[in-house]
Amino acid sequence: MQGRRLLIAAIAAVASSGATAQGGDPEAAREHLSMCIGCHGIPGYRTAFPEVYPVPKLGGQHAAYLVRALQAYRSGERMHPSMRAVAESLTDQQMADLAAYYASAGGGQ
Ligand code: HEC
Repeated sequence: MQGRRLLIAAIAAVASSGATAQGGDPEAAREHLSMCIGCHGIPGYRTAFPEVYPVPKLGGQHAAYLVRALQAYRSGERMHPSMRAVAESLTDQQMADLAAYYASAGGGQ
């Protein structure tokens, strides 16, 4: 039992250090989450504009990948009007914070 608890603590430490290695602060992200949960917080949700898109689950993805994706929406390299508008409103720091939050949030979101 003790060993299992240590293992869980070790995994949690690795997961959170991985997230903060990107310079993101998961706590700071909470202020901006209201912009995301309308779409990303609903399992299996599909947006109807501009056409039907499945909304990807962000929780548990790598922070570096999430930042890269947000930058790609902002630059127009990734084409999705709603995500582009969202990404354009975020600073680099906010992207890093949100990525750190979702990377450490597990599979639920
Ligand atoms: C209007 C609904 C909507 C809102 C609001 C929204 N998203 Fe998205 N998001 C989507 C959809 C739909 C996609 C998939 C688009 C595509 O196919 O490229 C997506 C894709 C993403 C991706 C890429 C995921 C991957 O697996 O490649 C990231 C990262 C992301 N969103 C982060 C955010 C963050 C952070 C916020 C809040 C600041 C946010 N989104 C707000 C609908 C939304």
